[in-house]
Amino acid sequence: MQELKIEIGDITPANIQQLKVINVSTLPVRYTDKFYNDLLGLYGKQYMKFAVWHGFNIGAVCARVEKHEAKENFSKLYIMTINVIPAYRRRKIASTLLNHILEKAAKDPSILEVYLHVQTSNSDAKQFYISHGFTEIGIVENYYKRVDPTSAYILKKSLKDDHVVSMDFVKVDDSAESTQE
Ligand SMILES: CC(C)(COP(=O)(O)OP(=O)(O)OC[C@H]1O[C@@H](n2cnc3c(N)ncnc32)[C@H](O)[C@@H]1OP(=O)(O)O)[C@@H](O)C(=O)NCCC(=O)NCCS
Repeated sequence: MQELKIEIGDITPANIQQLKVINVSTLPVRYTDKFYNDLLGLYGKQYMKFAVWHGFNIGAVCARVEKHEAKENFSKLYIMTINVIPAYRRRKIASTLLNHILEKAAKDPSILEVYLHVQTSNSDAKQFYISHGFTEIGIVENYYKRVDPTSAYILKKSLKDDHVVSMDFVKVDDSAESTQE
């Protein structure tokens, strides 16, 4: 199907109710009021966006920045949810949302990678992420409550060339080059 050109919109206190509607109609997991309060209060709006088509919000992505547990001073992006209303799927809307936040994260030198959980029964979402260069790095049993199955794949994608990251720690002596100028 033809790609649908969407606009990217902010999620705000005034329209977060629409995010709840999209989540309830597309995800088996139910999120608490605390989840929605934290979205706006704790995580900021940079990585939370609506897909807007002719003024209607037809999809959304919600991600947050977390500390990298293995690399001090670095962080990683965690995608909490990404979803598109069924009638608009396979038209690259989720791809546009994902690319929008990944491009932003790639420009932040502290964010090394992006990761997420996907219910092991959700082959559509897994395929979507695989098509965007994510790889499966493990399975967590009993990750979800009150849904079946409860297990989740962990998918990950690196946002920085390993070489670039390690170079941050290498003190380069470029004095010889400087004197030749
Ligand atoms: C997963 C989801 C977000 C994909 O949204 P989308 O806008 O349809 O995705 P895109 O059109 O950008 O798909 C890009 C590529 O991903 C892959 N893909 C997407 N949906 C797929 C599906 N149902 N089956 C197989 N591959 C799929 C394809 O390679 C696709 O490219 P193609 O259509 O040219 O073959 C959507 O199906 C959805 O909202 N699902 C319910 C919510 C959900 O499970 N979210 C993920 C967990 S939070």
